[in-house]
Amino acid sequence: MAATEWFKDAVFYQLHVKSFVDSDADGFGDFRGLTSRLDHLEQLGVDCLWLQPIYPSPFRDDGYDIADYCAIHTSYGTLDDFRAFLDEAHRRRLRVITELVLNHTSDQHPWFQQARSAPDNPYRDWYVWSDTDDRYRDVRVLFCDTERSNWTWDPVAKAYYWHRFFSHQPDLNYDNPAVRDEMWRVMQFWVDLGVDGFRVDAVPYLVEREGTTCENLPETHDVIRELRRRLDAHAPGRLLLAEANMRPEDVRPYFGDGDEFHMAFHFPVMPRMFLAVRLEDRKPLVDILDRTPPIPDTCQWGVFLRNHDELTLEMVTDVERDFMYSEYAADPQARINVGIRRRLAPLLDGDRRRIELMTTLLMSLPGSPFVYYGDEIGMGDNIHLGDRHSVRTPMQWDGDTNAGFSRASPERLWLPLVTSPVYGYQAVNVERQRHDGSSLLYWMQRLIRVRKTSRVFGRGDMVVLHPANHRVLAFTRTLGSETVLVVLNLSSTAQCAELDLGAHDGAIPVEMFGGSIFPRVQATPYVLSLGPYGTFWFRLRWL
Ligand code: NOJ
Repeated sequence: MAATEWFKDAVFYQLHVKSFVDSDADGFGDFRGLTSRLDHLEQLGVDCLWLQPIYPSPFRDDGYDIADYCAIHTSYGTLDDFRAFLDEAHRRRLRVITELVLNHTSDQHPWFQQARSAPDNPYRDWYVWSDTDDRYRDVRVLFCDTERSNWTWDPVAKAYYWHRFFSHQPDLNYDNPAVRDEMWRVMQFWVDLGVDGFRVDAVPYLVEREGTTCENLPETHDVIRELRRRLDAHAPGRLLLAEANMRPEDVRPYFGDGDEFHMAFHFPVMPRMFLAVRLEDRKPLVDILDRTPPIPDTCQWGVFLRNHDELTLEMVTDVERDFMYSEYAADPQARINVGIRRRLAPLLDGDRRRIELMTTLLMSLPGSPFVYYGDEIGMGDNIHLGDRHSVRTPMQWDGDTNAGFSRASPERLWLPLVTSPVYGYQAVNVERQRHDGSSLLYWMQRLIRVRKTSRVFGRGDMVVLHPANHRVLAFTRTLGSETVLVVLNLSSTAQCAELDLGAHDGAIPVEMFGGSIFPRVQATPYVLSLGPYGTFWFRLRWL
């Protein structure tokens, strides 16, 4: 088995250093803090940490506005602190991937400052300029709550510059080979420090062409192929993971022939998990799985329930979007752009059974699962904070001052802690859950352990079963001679399903959490009953 395909068996954990642990009482999390809490992540059983941007930044897009690609933000510590963290993570067999924001920089980046300073400055052509704001008219505005156009007038340059995100994030010009070379140097810098790969931000938007949507253009794929070629030649086994919030058929080309990304997030499957459980019907989920094209053997999907952004609803129909808003974001304050700024637990009304159902589903689908920091303890959100900060509040470690996140005075924390009676840090925190064998944290830990007993979850094929009862989702995952049967009750009431397991005639299902042996599969339909939101993982054995 190629060691370079480690990502296929990995459980990923996404975190923002800023929100994790603050070691020097300035109100911002930092690398020393993170290093001191690696025990938690090791015990949880995750394999790879995805760190959100760690670079110098004016923080107008929470670090996705980068002002220097080859340094650490001073609030997070020094490059030596980063090295010490990386060594310690690696010692514990935790891999680490960082962010590669290719598409744009901060307007504070020296490149942009140079570029705007004079038309003949060599950096001018590093960005996309125009004398008018009517080029690329067919291009949608992504941050539609804050931006009206993808062009902004720069009074210094006396020209418009192009930006797909905030107006303080000018897009780089990938038609310029100097930009591509520089970004490769950035990658090399981090790879040489030892990072295991990159989550590549905003991939579809790298290149612009008149008369197109400026998304997913062939030229963008050329850029990615070139970076991948350089990465493989320099440091094989490092991961490239694409953030491309697109339909599966448009994401598929980002795997190329195994020569672009190793992984890409499966965006459309995410809202459909939430739809399926609210509708108590597997259809939305099965439809999207059916529509998901096969990917090269060396590639993998990344699946997730929540992340640091809004729960995006760009990939569902208008009717589905309305339904999602009314069911999951009745309070308009919970909505932003085309999505919902809530965390997993509050989205599911704090219902432990639904949280377990959704997390089990996440861990059963083809692909490698991503856990968003805090979701392992069911942290809440604060929809009254600006932008998407609702889901970025400090990690809740214990019930003491500042939840054990920081020794700074509470007013200095970069974001306030969640203090509501239900989700506040006195009620929801790591320490408390570590002392409670029935906590969500323990359950998650167990789920991850059990998942790791079989490679079928990361690598197996999937065959969806079609029991008449639509409230039940059932499928098998098979790798070589090993098959796991997954059965999930998407509804709040007990259900019975008759499964056609003809392909596994004679097998004995062994429940994977407790080892109980279930009746042998016969030619007749296999009858299973499940409690509300009940789930089963069975290993099919031939004894
Ligand atoms: C995608 C990131 O996930 C999001 O947080 C950010 O605002 C945009 N890219 C722009 O960088």
